Amino acid sequence: MRTSLRATTVVLAVAASALSLTAVGTASPATAQPAGGTSHPLPYEDSRLPVPRRVADLLSRMTLEEKVGQMTQTERYQVADDTSPITTWHLGSILSGGGSTPTPNTPTAWADMVDRFQRAALATRLHIPLLYGIDSVHGDGNMLGATVFPHNIGLGATRDPALVREVEHVTASETRSSGPQWAFAPCLCAARDDRWGRTYESFGEDPRLVEQMETAIDGLQGPPGHLGDRDRVLATVKHYAGDGDTRYGTGSGDYPIDQGVAVTDRKSFWRNALQQYVPAVRQHHAGSVMPSYSSVDWTEDGVGNPVKMHGNRELLTGVLKGAMGFHGVVISDWEGIHQLPGDWPTQVRTGVNAGIDMMMEPNAYQSFETTLLDEVHAGRVPTSRIDDAVSRILTAKFELGLFEHPFTDRTDLPDIGGPAHRAVARRAVAESQVLLANHHRTLPVRPGAHLYVAGSNADDIGNQAGGWTMTWQGGSGATIPGTTILDGLRQGAGAGNVTWSQDASAPVGPDDVGVVVVGETPYAEGFGDVGGPRWAYDPGDHGVPRPVKDMQLSGADKAAVDRVCSAAASCVVVVVSGRPLVLDPQQLGEADAVVAAWLPGSEGEGVADTLLGRRPFTGKLPVSWPRTVAQEPVKGGDPHDDPLFPFGFGLTTARRTS
Ligand code: GLC
Repeated sequence: MRTSLRATTVVLAVAASALSLTAVGTASPATAQPAGGTSHPLPYEDSRLPVPRRVADLLSRMTLEEKVGQMTQTERYQVADDTSPITTWHLGSILSGGGSTPTPNTPTAWADMVDRFQRAALATRLHIPLLYGIDSVHGDGNMLGATVFPHNIGLGATRDPALVREVEHVTASETRSSGPQWAFAPCLCAARDDRWGRTYESFGEDPRLVEQMETAIDGLQGPPGHLGDRDRVLATVKHYAGDGDTRYGTGSGDYPIDQGVAVTDRKSFWRNALQQYVPAVRQHHAGSVMPSYSSVDWTEDGVGNPVKMHGNRELLTGVLKGAMGFHGVVISDWEGIHQLPGDWPTQVRTGVNAGIDMMMEPNAYQSFETTLLDEVHAGRVPTSRIDDAVSRILTAKFELGLFEHPFTDRTDLPDIGGPAHRAVARRAVAESQVLLANHHRTLPVRPGAHLYVAGSNADDIGNQAGGWTMTWQGGSGATIPGTTILDGLRQGAGAGNVTWSQDASAPVGPDDVGVVVVGETPYAEGFGDVGGPRWAYDPGDHGVPRPVKDMQLSGADKAAVDRVCSAAASCVVVVVSGRPLVLDPQQLGEADAVVAAWLPGSEGEGVADTLLGRRPFTGKLPVSWPRTVAQEPVKGGDPHDDPLFPFGFGLTTARRTS
């Protein structure tokens, strides 16, 4: 029987209630001079009125140019030196992409920058404040000094929704206190193939685990009616939908799988990629949604007709806004409509008519505005669509309290990166550790043991933070303040009790406990695809293309494991990576204990806490751990799968009391 998506969504339509975004208003007078120029504010300036009333009043006063401006977001670098385009182009929003930071990169400089842009927005005829968006996907990774949390794959391993809510509340506080009021997080992708470079942005392979972790939205936004608080931001659930469900080999452009095609049927797509958006919208009240770069190709319609999500009216308007009852803002991904078929005007009207409310146009904001105006004047984009989009955007701005408090509330700015926030991150790191093997009760390390520490990722905070840290791709080395895993081991075991030799060239004592920390270097998006990006192959390997990422341990790490584990009394292999890595039988056989540490972020001490027994191992695998890359996609529940360690696996230890 053909289960049409419409049949499924009818059920949702019956159950869906309007998304209740409760009015947020504070009695304090608007800091901007009322447009009316008198002490009597216009209705939209009156915080005592309900939000829908304010939206309707403001919309009625806006010109088409001002409305199209609200639907336009551009990048910080376009207005950093000259903010006047914010005013003259009526820009509704600015974003910082990965690594797009003020100089100096300090919380105060961030707040000063966002407020400077805000002043330009308030200089518009109707004084409409702007939204500033940023990828606070594991803390505000763009801001030096921010608390950098484990990436989502580690948070998924905690199986601790309350902790995830707390993590994201700290993230929201550090983000809002430094200016941005909008976080492009969390990703609700269920990563089905670990060869995908964005696997670490996923809470796990199972959409039901993803749903458990949607307390992240509550941490970012707070309870309904609290979006205007100084420690909350608008959340963005992404990438709608099926970003983690694409087939390897169908990737866009240079990427083998990223931005590819989900070749599926409506029932499977609902189960693997859509269902987690229902609670995100209706229970957690996510304020915005970002479409995926990927496409969907319905097998029941015959393979061979992939439709890009950025142009998918059935799923963006029919399902998300209609059946699920989403009343927030759909924000495109970075130049997302540029991947749509047709010429530029066609791409613009296709994206807007499909249901995108605001366009992330870092390099073509003027052209987007003029082209959309042309499309409206030509009758190819109805004004009703424009008014719907702008109403959603204005609702978010009113809910965030930006008309009453357009400038950054810096009360909590001194807490950014402080001990209280880092303690939350350290606890999240410890709870994310997954103990995969523990022969002879090697862990926790016995007190007083001499540690021999080696491996590429033992003392590299950039590698343990991963992508979206300081720059889009992240980078190795001492990129951020915090503690490495080696720091934590020295602090916990006593520096005199620790030998450090990255390549294990120093002599290994026969009574030593070896700790070899291996893993990946940072990457983001398609750059992390196994086998890609295609042009990134290294021609240096005697002309034999070498993929940038291969889900294998490096030769140096394998050698370090071999050296340490063959000489030490016992040895522990710790894997710091954004996804499972293949553990060859040799290294696996040599290790007495194996730990999946994921990408812990700035608080490497949290890894040492579990190794030394200060905290127990409690983590569970958020994704299946394959024996070989050839097994991918290996996912729980398929009887044909035979992973090395199944989804949900994780050994436990008691917390050391002595
Ligand atoms: C990127 C990502 C998206 C991010 C956006 C802004 O390409 O796909 O997750 O929010 O651009 O940085």
